[in-house]
Amino acid sequence: MSLKIALFASGSGSNAENIIRYFSTSDKLIFPLIISNKPEAFIHERAKLLQVPSFTFSREEFTQSDAVVDFLKQHNIDGIVLAGFLLKIPQNIINAFPNKIINIHPALLPKYGGKGMYGHHVHQAVADAGEKESGITIHYVNSNYDEGSIIFQTKCPVLPTDTADTIAQKVHELEYNYYPKIIQKLWG
Ligand code: GAR
Repeated sequence: MSLKIALFASGSGSNAENIIRYFSTSDKLIFPLIISNKPEAFIHERAKLLQVPSFTFSREEFTQSDAVVDFLKQHNIDGIVLAGFLLKIPQNIINAFPNKIINIHPALLPKYGGKGMYGHHVHQAVADAGEKESGITIHYVNSNYDEGSIIFQTKCPVLPTDTADTIAQKVHELEYNYYPKIIQKLWG
């Protein structure tokens, strides 16, 4: 039996693309669609090239209606992978997919998590604090930002010469390497 997983992305979507490519020959885990909250996000360009349909729902549709849950159910979606998705996941989606929503955060939670802590802001905060290491956290999603139980973490060194940009590069490498493998281990 195969599992159908929806990818949620708000921005560039390089993780979403990496996951779709990784599983392109899998018949166990299928990524049939991408959902975004931003019509102009670059993820839609990637989706076209990958020939995966992508859809945009507004903040209101996400937070004040069952539009997204209804849509996911109509498409027989079994789980959700967040890949740079920046809206908080509302309770109705969490209830509809218990223990079936995971996120990747570009730092070692519980440090550098919470509202406003995404992408470049996280790496800048890590650099400003003079941290000696950063990394990735893959975790289940609950109704508080970045607080669901942790599935996997791994680290990379941060050198005094590193900037937010170079930390981002190191963290992206970890993301590309580990996110698909952890998804495979969990659901594959
Ligand atoms: C990734 O680094 C991801 O960990 C981060 O956004 C980036 C998206 O890059 N997510 C968060 O900060 C969530 N709080 P991408 O669009 O190229 O995959």
